[in-house]
Amino acid sequence: MLLACLVSLIFLLLACGSAQTYPATVEFDVVFPLNDTYAPAALFPIVFAIQNPQASVPLTLSIEWYLGRVGSSGDWLAGGFGDLPWINFSTNPYFVVMSTTTLNNTEGVFSLLWTLYSGNCSESLGGTKLGSGVASNHTRFTIKNGAQQPSLVTSSDTCPAQNVTFNVTGTLPVSGAAEYGERDICAVVAEEPPPPANPCAIQVDDVMASSMSAILPCVTAYPIWSGNCTSTVNSSSLAIRSSFGGMGLTWVATCLWLSLLFWVL
Ligand SMILES: *[C@@H]1O[C@H](CO)[C@@H](O)[C@H](O)[C@H]1NC(C)=O
Ligand SMILES: *[C@@H]1O[C@H](CO)[C@@H](O)[C@H](O)[C@H]1NC(C)=O
Ligand SMILES: *[C@@H]1O[C@H](CO)[C@@H](O)[C@H](O)[C@H]1NC(C)=O
Ligand SMILES: *[C@@H]1O[C@H](CO)[C@@H](O)[C@H](O)[C@H]1NC(C)=O
Ligand SMILES: *[C@@H]1O[C@H](CO)[C@@H](O)[C@H](O)[C@H]1NC(C)=O
Ligand SMILES: *[C@@H]1O[C@H](CO)[C@@H](O)[C@H](O)[C@H]1NC(C)=O
Ligand SMILES: *[C@@H]1O[C@H](CO)[C@@H](O)[C@H](O)[C@H]1NC(C)=O
Ligand SMILES: *[C@@H]1O[C@H](CO)[C@@H](O)[C@H](O)[C@H]1NC(C)=O
Ligand SMILES: *[C@@H]1O[C@H](CO)[C@@H](O)[C@H](O)[C@H]1NC(C)=O
Repeated sequence: MLLACLVSLIFLLLACGSAQTYPATVEFDVVFPLNDTYAPAALFPIVFAIQNPQASVPLTLSIEWYLGRVGSSGDWLAGGFGDLPWINFSTNPYFVVMSTTTLNNTEGVFSLLWTLYSGNCSESLGGTKLGSGVASNHTRFTIKNGAQQPSLVTSSDTCPAQNVTFNVTGTLPVSGAAEYGERDICAVVAEEPPPPANPCAIQVDDVMASSMSAILPCVTAYPIWSGNCTSTVNSSSLAIRSSFGGMGLTWVATCLWLSLLFWVL
């Protein structure tokens, strides 16, 4: 009897500890690069952040990015994909850190195109109706010899410039979870307008910046895969993926429109 009580108490505590309350605002921010000028770097960082990541779980977020030279017809230099539903979020904010070796020895104006994919759902007669959202934008930056080294440390005047926000009002159960990122719940997202963003809540201090910098060799993106990783990756504080796994057919289509896009941006 006593044991049963203890066990249920423990389960209750666990449930309370992990319960996510809604509505909750989830924010995605582009942390680096900013609209700025940087020196060439052997490992140039690409960093995104998720604010309130625990509440983002049912959104099954994923982020895709491409780097290209502005005005070049076609060739993009690097690209990465981060599949976030699989992460055990344990910090807030959660940083998605990747890097590219393609800006080591070059100058020019570059564009980082990013796309954030999300899932949502609503109640319908037949059960839960799934939907999806796509948000996309680009940041432009300049690489110039002698300019400041890329630095991830933020100051009061360097808040992330771009963001996407979601007002998650609740969750619904999903059947056939295998088709939905293995999650058994999906996010009910409030209609427009999206909640106001708070990008300046992203503060990166020296300690955080150096732990991100330490993993840059481990998270290099296409076309040079991580091959020279000496530091221990602490995945409980940093999200790190740099694969194109699961891109499948979209790859060909994406290449086609990218060829046009970098000419225009
Ligand atoms: C980027 O910075 C330049 C120079 O400071 C400025 O003129 C331009 O408006 C900025 N662009 C954006 C999109 O913020
Ligand atoms: C970066 O470029 C310099 C100069 O070309 C070269 O010496 C160095 O090996 C390069 N570093 C990496 C990591 O590719
Ligand atoms: C997340 O946590 C669960 C339960 O603790 C564990 O089974 C799973 O392997 C973890 N996933 C990752 C990607 O660390
Ligand atoms: C939710 O899904 C619907 C249907 O796919 C889509 O039109 C809408 O943009 C999505 N909402 C958000 C906030 O992503
Ligand atoms: C893209 O980002 C710029 C700021 O860099 C912002 O002014 C603009 O509204 C964004 N576009 C979209 C479609 O969100
Ligand atoms: C968040 O992003 C939106 C759309 O890109 C932009 O209009 C807005 O200025 C951003 N908010 C902040 C506080 O930067
Ligand atoms: C989120 O949506 C709920 C329900 O529509 C609303 O009451 C709340 O004010 C919204 N929150 C924000 C920050 O927009
Ligand atoms: C790995 O890094 C070490 C130390 O920076 C360097 O000497 C070596 O050439 C690198 N190896 C490769 C394959 O890049
Ligand atoms: C990993 O990061 C978490 C959260 O910041 C921290 O509590 C933990 O001590 C770190 N682990 C290691 C091995 O550095």
